[in-house]
Amino acid sequence: MRIFEQLESEVRSYVRSFPVIFDTAEGSFLFDEQGNRYIDFFSGAGTLNYGHNNPVISNALIEYLQRNGIVHGLDKATSAKKRFLQKFYDTVLAPRNLEYKIQFTGPTGTNAVESALKLARMVKGRSNVIAFTNAFHGLTMGALAVTGNNFYRDEFFGMRSNVDHMPYDGYFGPDVNTIEYLRRFLEDKSSGIDLPAAIIVETVQGEGGIHVASVEWLQQLEQLCHEFDILLIVDDIQVGNGRTGTFFSFERAGIKPDMVTLSKSIGGGLPLALLLMRPELDQWKPGEHTGTFRGNNLAFVASTEALAYWDNEDLAESVKYKGQIMEEELTKIRDKYPQLEADVRGVGMVWGLEIKKLGFAGEVSKAAFENGLVIELSGAEDQVIKFLPSLVIDEDTLREGIGIIDKAIGELLERKQEMRTGDVM
Ligand SMILES: Cc1ncc(COP(=O)(O)O)c(C=O)c1O
Repeated sequence: MRIFEQLESEVRSYVRSFPVIFDTAEGSFLFDEQGNRYIDFFSGAGTLNYGHNNPVISNALIEYLQRNGIVHGLDKATSAKKRFLQKFYDTVLAPRNLEYKIQFTGPTGTNAVESALKLARMVKGRSNVIAFTNAFHGLTMGALAVTGNNFYRDEFFGMRSNVDHMPYDGYFGPDVNTIEYLRRFLEDKSSGIDLPAAIIVETVQGEGGIHVASVEWLQQLEQLCHEFDILLIVDDIQVGNGRTGTFFSFERAGIKPDMVTLSKSIGGGLPLALLLMRPELDQWKPGEHTGTFRGNNLAFVASTEALAYWDNEDLAESVKYKGQIMEEELTKIRDKYPQLEADVRGVGMVWGLEIKKLGFAGEVSKAAFENGLVIELSGAEDQVIKFLPSLVIDEDTLREGIGIIDKAIGELLERKQEMRTGDVM
């Protein structure tokens, strides 16, 4: 590992949580240079919904490269982009009666968020945007301003103006309707909150600690946006692409956002980010928002193959089935260790096990890694163990991975008990 410590910036992070050199990967497994196998419950933070090196995707990429297909094309027309656009329209937009224009932004999620915020402000001629507590939308300056987590928000980074944060669903507990709270600020012209161009929301907060907005809350949010002429942006970068059981995460609420940001798994494992917008909002002048890597042709090839998973209901059904297993198994763990006062939250195949006792979730993730499971943390205090397996994982591997967490918790508690007993003696 010396070369990483010597040359790679101190900003490196996941290499610290998982200090081995990964070499190959297949489906839901990673292998290090020594050939040790790890189950992957991290999935590139939601980028590998279709698994590592999915053979359908890999074969299409190899074939495309071997026939000298265009790899870099700025935003020129290419056959790979043409096929992607047609497939996305036929498989995703048309069956859902969604009319969106598609903007290819720079290749990462934060680029799509920047584009959405800029366009919303331009179209509405207003600068303010409302985001929610614990939101995570990326780390470039505009996206950072709508991100809540204090760890990333340092004054030195520059102005964080033109954004107000409002309480997400459940922020004050189950009895406070935070949409009514927000409404009060919008109704009162002297509340100090300027009418925003847009409200940006994750339907399930991934990095924020797996908070699932209720269907009613999302519907009320859409209604509020209509009433006050505010654009609704759903950031589906982490929990879109089937993670919650439908292609878009907002489908469960039956809402139609004005804009949607998509990235991570939309590229089938390769970098790609999209902004979807209602056609009337597409008020860009040609070239007004550009970037050298807008639309990555290899990612178009990968994505076109991956979208075939949505030609029928099989994947959606399987997410539902495996999501139930996740809920059942995590609930069993919660009940088995009542002393942890753990909470289980999630939907589809994104689940969180919150353990408030400071540092314990981190100890579990570390112990799980030693037993062959890659799993990450989320939440403001890294207090939530985040379960994000690939959507195509088989049931046995899914159960094996959850079993590793169960065992890690049991052993850690036992060790702590022994230490306490030792103290007394
Ligand atoms: C909801 C959401 N939005 C935006 C981003 C930023 O994406 P990227 O890291 O690709 O810039 C993330 C990343 O985790 C995310 O979860």
